[in-house]
Amino acid sequence: MSTEEKKGKVSWFIFPAVAVIVFILGLLASSIMERRVESRMIYMPKEKMDQFEPRNEKWGKQYPNQYDTFMKTAETSFKSKHNISSRDDMLEKNPNLVILWAGYGFSKDYNAPRGHSYAIKDIRETLRTGAPKSEKDGPMPATCWACKSTDVSRYMNEKGITEFYQGKWAEKGHEVINPIGCNDCHDGDTMALRISRPALLEGFESMGLDLSKATHQDKRTLVCAQCHVEYYFKDQYLVFPWSKGTKAENMEEYFDEVEFADWVHPLSKAKMIKAQHPGYELWKEGIHAQRGVSCADCHMPYVSKGGVKFTDHQINSPLAKINRSCQNCHRQSEAELIRSVASNQDKVYQLKMSAEKILVKAHLEAKAAWDAGATEAEMAPVLDYIRHAQWRWDYATASHGAAFHAPQEVLRILGTSIEKGSEARRLLTGVLVSKGIKEVDYPDVSTKEKAQKYLGMDIEAMKKAKKEFLETLVPEWEKKAKEREATYGDKKPMTKK
Ligand code: HEC
Ligand code: HEC
Ligand code: HEC
Ligand code: HEC
Repeated sequence: MSTEEKKGKVSWFIFPAVAVIVFILGLLASSIMERRVESRMIYMPKEKMDQFEPRNEKWGKQYPNQYDTFMKTAETSFKSKHNISSRDDMLEKNPNLVILWAGYGFSKDYNAPRGHSYAIKDIRETLRTGAPKSEKDGPMPATCWACKSTDVSRYMNEKGITEFYQGKWAEKGHEVINPIGCNDCHDGDTMALRISRPALLEGFESMGLDLSKATHQDKRTLVCAQCHVEYYFKDQYLVFPWSKGTKAENMEEYFDEVEFADWVHPLSKAKMIKAQHPGYELWKEGIHAQRGVSCADCHMPYVSKGGVKFTDHQINSPLAKINRSCQNCHRQSEAELIRSVASNQDKVYQLKMSAEKILVKAHLEAKAAWDAGATEAEMAPVLDYIRHAQWRWDYATASHGAAFHAPQEVLRILGTSIEKGSEARRLLTGVLVSKGIKEVDYPDVSTKEKAQKYLGMDIEAMKKAKKEFLETLVPEWEKKAKEREATYGDKKPMTKK
């Protein structure tokens, strides 16, 4: 055979082979798609619910399957390599956080998140909300309630959005009683997914996007984006800082332009920005978002009970139900899927620790420089680097789940944090040497207790005051709320505007 003939034979063989491979790949892709399409269930609502009915148990009477699984968010037994569904003292586990957030509420108390049904209990109990003695007392604004309860849209409907954000946190304590639930995500008439939070609508508007054009699949993510996002308070009004985009650099530019600072760090005196939990923003950067996989696809998979198929409302770690959450699309074994999640998380946590060590030293060295007589002018560029380095570290790591949702993006941001933190320390070395300081005497801040003591925090006094608050003011809130709810009746309790 001539070489020409050979080539002819080979390509004759290659063409059908490629066709078969393409066909099989197509089947695989469409099976993933079909599973997703299958997941859109036609749902016929029973009796209509009032849009603003805050009591989840009332909705539960009509939708017992969803309600029962929703109530299971109270279960706390699940634990994976890096996440846990019970309260976990993050400051105890990682004392770096106490120094990084010094002077800010998070250095008092910070726990891992747990299920939605704990939202009210946990915000009342954390030391961050202080121990108000009256409506006009305490460190936090009313805005803090915005992502905790079904009473939020009820109140906003009755009295107005700005009115909700006004006043102290304690002022709305008797209004906000029911934890996150049905009316946060559902329209009472049709049970279709609905966006109840104005901040998300306004955030989309600020990017020139129209939320009303969102598809059904988009909404399976957007209901979560009402709360699992970065935000800040602009004169107590809740704002998602997205007008320049949703990446770490875009929001940093936004905050710099409006000269926003959450607080001034008491050691370094840097003007800091606290990242909240840009979960939605980081999910967008990951492979699953890019392939159209929504939050609900993994966190709210379908479940069958007595021949009825419905959405599992026990929103927790998808690793607690891999057969439904991942193996719906992936053919790998459970062990392999767990390994792939942990492997991404391990890499992120390694780089996160490097960034933290640099930042802790930068704050302590900046304090040493101030103590040695450094001037504002000498320190200005240092403080800018610290602000940006810590914002990026926080953005990358405060977003729960991002180490799996978008590991590459998280590693990229942590890389820039390390770069900026190192720049701060390089400049600091110059300042310190110019003041005759060759070595900084670092304090021992290796445990939560030592770090808090070094900062002069009296945690025992805070705990005592908190206990009193929980035993006196909170029961008053509960009583007032009961009286209000008693006026609702069983149906259509709220007057619509
Ligand atoms: C955090 C948002 C969220 C909350 C809170 C929530 N749901 Fe859902 N719910 C969803 C999503 C997402 C779906 C899937 C909808 C779809 O794809 O059409 C869903 C689906 C449903 C459906 C349609 C049938 C089904 O099972 O798919 C019903 C009924 C329902 N939920 C009832 C409830 C009730 C009752 C509550 C309160 C106890 C509640 N939901 C709380 C997000 C939520
Ligand atoms: C109304 C605000 C709100 C909405 C809407 C919301 N979340 Fe949450 N979510 C929270 C808060 C607040 C917590 C922490 C509660 C606590 O620790 O007490 C939380 C906790 C969680 C947790 C941790 C649970 C655990 O067991 O560790 C997961 C996972 C989660 N949310 C996923 C989602 C997903 C997915 C959606 C959309 C389907 C969603 N959330 C919608 C506010 C919200
Ligand atoms: C609705 C379908 C769907 C679900 C549910 C789903 N995935 Fe995926 N996953 C995909 C698609 C699509 C890709 C991208 C494959 C591609 O295009 O190369 C992907 C990619 C991945 C990758 C490779 C990431 C990379 O960097 O390339 C891992 C690991 C993975 N998924 C793990 C999981 C785990 C763990 C779960 C459950 C918690 C899960 N997936 C749930 C559809 C899904
Ligand atoms: C492809 C599947 C997948 C998608 C899509 C997904 N998640 Fe996750 N999520 C996970 C996995 C896996 C974890 C890690 C769980 C663990 O380590 O136990 C996680 C963790 C989390 C956590 C932290 C839970 C904890 O206990 O600390 C939150 C909160 C969360 N996701 C919210 C969201 C939100 C909001 C979206 C959409 C914007 C989303 N997730 C999209 C798979 C997914």
